Order: sequence, then structure tokens, then C-alpha cells
Amino acid sequence: MVFGVILAGGIGSRMGNAEKPKQFIKIGDKPIIVHTIEKFFVHTGMEKIIVLCPKQWVEHTRNLVKQYMGETDRVVVLEGGTTRNETIMNSIRYVEENYGLEDDTLLVTHDSVRPFLTHRIIEDNIKYGLQYGAVDTVIAATDTIVASEDGKVITAVPDRSQMYQGQTPQTFNAKKLKELYYSLTDEEKAILTDASKIFVIKGEKVHLVRGEVFNIKITYPYDLRVAESLIQNGEMESEC
Ligand code: CTP
Repeated sequence: MVFGVILAGGIGSRMGNAEKPKQFIKIGDKPIIVHTIEKFFVHTGMEKIIVLCPKQWVEHTRNLVKQYMGETDRVVVLEGGTTRNETIMNSIRYVEENYGLEDDTLLVTHDSVRPFLTHRIIEDNIKYGLQYGAVDTVIAATDTIVASEDGKVITAVPDRSQMYQGQTPQTFNAKKLKELYYSLTDEEKAILTDASKIFVIKGEKVHLVRGEVFNIKITYPYDLRVAESLIQNGEMESEC
């Protein structure tokens, strides 16, 4: 079984909007989170779409689902966790309690604040996720990536042709993800920035799926302006 997992448990501190987390800000005529849920909702290959948000926003999110998607049991709204990975673990707990974790249970995890993902990206995530057990959506790096350990001087300039920028979805075999996550030490957990790294730390392969340049994550106020203009200009063309 394949489950969509929309991660909306963050508070959007870098957006600086104290009123509401960024996923509830409108672009075009709908909240960002609604654009994102809709992309999953129209995909028929998913058993259920699990949306996880801060506790005090659960009721509001349920109301948004009702308002934009009507009465449906294909979307469930739950409370997220204290970190992004803990939010993913909450979704695994839900799946385990309600469906059990089978060998082929797959989670297509996606940032609620990346509303421009495409049907093709979801398709590729499911296809290669079922084949390999772990996939990450990426685009080739366009800027040269510079590494600095102290933030003052360069420690390395990796070959750009081997550098990619991580996007989402990230798709995982649920059983394997759970097993690996709970085998991490606290030190290992502290250096995690995303869920793919759980596999990488443990020496497991994560396969790449091609993303899109326009599959941006809305993080800063500037990104909101970009997102608004992408919405106004309609359909986006693949460039990479
Ligand atoms: N996220 C989540 N649970 C958390 C933290 C983050 O589900 N405990 C989600 C966010 O809601 C977002 C996605 O992970 O959709 C990507 O994270 P990011 O852009 O860093 O969102 P925030 O944590 O909300 O932003 P900030 O770091 O600026 O506070």
C-alpha cells in the first residue's frame, strides 16, 4: 500500500509570520497546504493521504480539507512531531495501527510548503520507491557548492557535476525507515536534516528521482513572491 504523507508540523520561523505557520498563507486563491494536498488528492495510486500539522492547527486543517475537497475519508489530519522526522514517525505509527506495516508499505513524504510538485514526480517516486525502498527527489546543482566547516574559510569545493539539491518527495519503505530511525544514536539523530540521511548514515542506498527547478520550498518571504508569480503564470515547463 502507498500512503501520501504531507509534512506540515513546522511553525515557519524563517518566514517571520507570527500569525500563522507559512503552510496556511494563501498563494493565488488558496492556502499553500491546500495546493499541496490537491496534488496528492488527484493521484489515484494512494490509499490515504496523511497530513500532519501542529496540534493547535489540526481542527483548522480538517476544515480546510472539508472546504476544498468535500467530505472524504481519503485524507486524514493528525498531529505532527517536535522534529520533521518525528512528524514522519507519527505517520508511521498511524499506518501501523490502522493497516499494519507490510513489506511493501510505502510512504511518499512531502513538504507541505512545496505546492508545485508534479504528477510525474509523484509517479516516479512511487515506481522507484517500490523498486528500491528509498528515493530522494533532486535537481542538479546550478551554483558551485562551497563547503566551509567554520563559516569563515572554504574547506572544499566539490565537483559541481556530482552535486544535487535535495527536494521532496522522499519516498521510503515504511518498515525499513522505522527500523533504521530507531537504531540511530542521539548524536546521529542530532545531525539529521532530512529522512534520506537516515538511510545514508546507515549505509543504505537512496536512489535519485529527477525533480523540477520550480518545485521550490517556500521558506522566506521572498519565496512567497516567487510562488505567487508561478501561480499567476500557470502551467510550468520542465527545464532539467
Ligand atoms: N515540518 C514538520 N514537522 C516539524 C518541522 C517541520 O512536518 N516538526 C515540515 C514543515 O511544516 C515543512 C517541511 O517540514 O512543510 C519543511 O520544513 P521547513 O521549511 O524547515 O519548515 P519549518 O520548520 O516550518 O520552517 P522554519 O525552519 O523556518 O521554522
